[in-house]
Amino acid sequence: MEYKDFKDHVVSINPADNEDLVGAFKISTSQEVDDAVQAAKAAYPAWSATPAPHRGEILFNVARILEDRKEELGWLVTREMGKVISEGLSDVQEAIDMAYYMAGEGRRLQGETIPSELADKDAKTVRESIGTFALITPWNFPIAIPSWKLFACLIAGNTAVLKPSSDTPQCAYEFVRLLYDAGVPEDVVKIVFGPGRGVGTRLTTNYVDGISFTGSCDVGFGIERVAASFRMPVSTEMGGKNAVIIMDDADLDLAAQGCIWGGFGTAGQRCTAASRIVVHEDVFEDFARKFTSLVEKLTVGDPFKCDVGPVINKAAMDKIEEYITDGVTRYAYVQNKNSDYDLSKGSFVLPTVFLDVHPQDKLAQEEIFGPVVCLIKAKNLDNAIDIVNGTPYGLSSAIFTNNIRNSALCERRLKTGIVYINAATIGAEIQFPFGGIKYTGMGPREAGGRGGALDFYTNWKVIYRDYSGKIQKAQVKDE
Ligand code: UN1
Repeated sequence: MEYKDFKDHVVSINPADNEDLVGAFKISTSQEVDDAVQAAKAAYPAWSATPAPHRGEILFNVARILEDRKEELGWLVTREMGKVISEGLSDVQEAIDMAYYMAGEGRRLQGETIPSELADKDAKTVRESIGTFALITPWNFPIAIPSWKLFACLIAGNTAVLKPSSDTPQCAYEFVRLLYDAGVPEDVVKIVFGPGRGVGTRLTTNYVDGISFTGSCDVGFGIERVAASFRMPVSTEMGGKNAVIIMDDADLDLAAQGCIWGGFGTAGQRCTAASRIVVHEDVFEDFARKFTSLVEKLTVGDPFKCDVGPVINKAAMDKIEEYITDGVTRYAYVQNKNSDYDLSKGSFVLPTVFLDVHPQDKLAQEEIFGPVVCLIKAKNLDNAIDIVNGTPYGLSSAIFTNNIRNSALCERRLKTGIVYINAATIGAEIQFPFGGIKYTGMGPREAGGRGGALDFYTNWKVIYRDYSGKIQKAQVKDE
């Protein structure tokens, strides 16, 4: 069968081998999107009334099934999305971690009791569920990111309609079926397929009670406007132009290895990818030599065997290639050509490092989302911090240093949601809030618990109880 036979479908193709059709799902009609929302809304009263510890037990089942199926799902992630197999398995591991973490929240979900200023009166805060959420997820973490959103949403007592990226529908479909197998009622989580324009728009303007979105700024800014016009809570997590500072006192071998992981892990397709490395001028040459020699050793090709796999699709490949073609006209560069795979079978971009890039250059300002890293020279720490902070994004940043003062100054002054010391910009853990500032995102953070996703998926209610038998007036003195 030809791909064109699937004209009303989202069709996912193995990005390492374009002959390999992974899955095809019929694009949901407007009526099907409406029905999904209505079903999830109808399921809300019973689900929100289910005691949270019982919802937690279902999530424990989810965690156990994910563990049993980790190998198979990890392989599917690699086949459908193209990240190398160790990372395909980690994608599933992140969902396992999130399932256990949120399952445990079923027996916490605490509020606070706080003293009242009046006698014979007490007061407490409780978390309340909100309703039905539209969850829109990207292709780069096709199991992990749906798990961040869904598990927090569900444990808090909400229902959801998931619209996964059209590049990774098979992973999303398997994931949602697994939830049903674990005991999540089928109307509590519905799934719809199709492009953002059309299916996404219908979903977000269709009487849902909140939207969580991970993806590009282009789409996310529009979703923020929709949410504002419908007066709905929204959480967006979008781009990054993350940077690592390498100070003159750093362990350069450690830093070079860290930046390989940060820059070329997931072929640079993480929102947290280290796409800028800001190096103290006194160690620039030394670091550049160590780093580029590691880049040249990477193997590129089959993600089941190599260090760097393909990028998600041909459109992404063309866009990244445009940046490279433009960059080589202006900068010295090193490109890895180490492959014995027939790269024309898929969407491959060779790992590329640009040297001594101007911090205002588009290579150093725009999110490339591919295996392309810029090295930038800094005069000192102040200059390096200004460079790191000098983009519209604010997701993740890092410093390699052995000097406690340098570390402390970065912790305070780097304007990002996440700061790493002696590690690169990727590898956030699910028990911490994930997200950033400026163009990176709006609203409460993903993942994490209190201070993170639970604050998005619940409303705080304050309950004052007066058992004095009198009308007592707060703030009114002299009575
Ligand atoms: C993303 O790139 O969208 O911190 C998420 C990390 C991963 C999650 C990245 N745990 O790199």
